[in-house]
Amino acid sequence: MNILFIGDIVGKPGRKMVKKFLPSLKKEYQINYVIANYENAAHGFGVTEKVYKELKTAGVDIFTGGNHTFDKKKDAFTLLEEKKILRPLNYFEAPGEWYYEDDNIIVISAMGIFAMPYGKNPFIELNQFVEGKDKFIFVDFHAEATAEKRAMYLMLKGRVGAVVGTHTHIGTDDLEIEDGTCYLTDIGLTGCRDNVIGMEAKAPIAHMLTGLKHNFDVKEKCEAIFQALLIKTDENKSVSAKKFKAVGEGELYVSQEVEVGV
Ligand code: FE2
Repeated sequence: MNILFIGDIVGKPGRKMVKKFLPSLKKEYQINYVIANYENAAHGFGVTEKVYKELKTAGVDIFTGGNHTFDKKKDAFTLLEEKKILRPLNYFEAPGEWYYEDDNIIVISAMGIFAMPYGKNPFIELNQFVEGKDKFIFVDFHAEATAEKRAMYLMLKGRVGAVVGTHTHIGTDDLEIEDGTCYLTDIGLTGCRDNVIGMEAKAPIAHMLTGLKHNFDVKEKCEAIFQALLIKTDENKSVSAKKFKAVGEGELYVSQEVEVGV
């Protein structure tokens, strides 16, 4: 099967890029599942029911979360209770599910520990959870520290189909497949490329200059980037992967590619 993953979709510019590129990608590559991280989709902070519907209509099938899952608490609770989105496994008590499962696939939403909300240890939880599962397992590991992402990959290598990082919004160039597990430290945002992690640069710069909190905002007009990872699977393993990118008004291109065969 073919799986497409889109990382942190940041605000309207990110959603616009998804609507622009996803329908044709879905058709061209006969994609069975589109997974996307929604946690910044509503103006950078969380998700609303309206934004969820917009992305669902654009072609996203499974929605993973992160530290901003509960920013729009009322909408998030409703969407989680209706099982339309996932929330990270780390939360002790929260509505909804942290993984999606059907006959072909298990999709996991998990957060790291460093600079993340206080919660369960994702390493202990996933080390136990994947045991004996006979399906393709995709893990969206939403973490700040690259070491945590790498450690999660090496712990799960050969036991899951893919470990792909989100949260830092900056795409890395270390795509690989080993023992049937596809890994990328961070897929990078889909949203304003010429900002600071998708946010208008003024507030982050002022915050860094003064130490005082400033309200982060998503600019309506910016040079947006689209980033998505296509994974081809065979049974429970990854056999090839392609990272797609498009910047501004430019065409879609393949920025990284790896193929190991069956
Ligand atoms: Fe995040």
